[in-house]
Amino acid sequence: MFYNCACFYSRNIFLRKYGLHITYKDECSFKTLYGETLRQKGCKSNEQFEAIFKEIKDEIQRRRDICKSALHRRELIASRYRPLHPSIYLLKESFLDPKFLHLVYLCKNAGMNEDVKKSITVHKSFRLYAFPIFTQEFCDMLIEELEYFERSDLPKGRPNTMSNNGCLLEELGFDKEFLEPLRMNYISWITRFLFPDFGGGSLDSHRVFTVKYSMGQDRNLGAHYDNAEITLNVCLGKDFSAGGLNFRGLNTEMYETSTYHYPNSPRYGILHRGRQMHEALPIESGTRHNMVMWMRSSSVRNHLCPMCLSVPQLEKDTTGGYGQGFTMREERQDNPRFVDVCVV
Ligand SMILES: [Fe+2]
Ligand SMILES: [Zn+2]
Repeated sequence: MFYNCACFYSRNIFLRKYGLHITYKDECSFKTLYGETLRQKGCKSNEQFEAIFKEIKDEIQRRRDICKSALHRRELIASRYRPLHPSIYLLKESFLDPKFLHLVYLCKNAGMNEDVKKSITVHKSFRLYAFPIFTQEFCDMLIEELEYFERSDLPKGRPNTMSNNGCLLEELGFDKEFLEPLRMNYISWITRFLFPDFGGGSLDSHRVFTVKYSMGQDRNLGAHYDNAEITLNVCLGKDFSAGGLNFRGLNTEMYETSTYHYPNSPRYGILHRGRQMHEALPIESGTRHNMVMWMRSSSVRNHLCPMCLSVPQLEKDTTGGYGQGFTMREERQDNPRFVDVCVV
């Protein structure tokens, strides 16, 4: 059984128009905390503040409804969606790049020596690693599947609180036979050597979605960190220019000012710590799809929720899925911070 942290209903609410992440308790404390910043960003009238409060309350309600609507969507999709490429829902090694397979083979059989690590390092101090994951043929089929689903009249969940375009791969039916084996039998063999101190050796859940950037829709994504211990971000294609990723220090390293620019290339995935600040720069033409795999370690996050940086206040996830990847430790039974409240 997996759990969410109650901070989901008050923290990291993104005001897209003002490019600001906020925490909300009530209108009065909100104005004290953010009033000046918002005025500087052009929010001056009472009507504009009222519009913000409505946006915040709608977002909190949307988050409260997430389990119920996710279950509803999953049932509808399972009963009505006929995939364009049913064969890609079952992970096969022929979908994976030979270099990636070799890397996993080395990690499994000999561990990861310094030369192998060096060959995949793109930024040493930020601990960023990149390598090809999928074949181009698989990427093309997955994009076709995503576009086919997008054209259907079935309901679509939003990838995360910041992105509007893309889909939740678990809702499409990729979880048990594609995403779970990809994480458990391949990716985690690599992360255990690269991020042993960030849960890379104890990953036990994930949330995987695709994001789509195109000229008429979202073209970029502002600076943020992920609700994950480790993220794998794979560029699937297809025709686009610009739109790389910019990385900065960890979310707790306010003094870190250097940045690293990573150009997205189709088939390649970049592995980074979820707490590494990053943004997607605007594409300048075409369309880009990425598959983003947020991987979580309950043994890390049970001690500290990465979003509120406190001991998580647990709420059951009623979808039967991974929720936000928290689990209840034995000693939590009498913990007053644990509340037995369903999300829906
Ligand atoms: Fe991200
Ligand atoms: Zn939290």
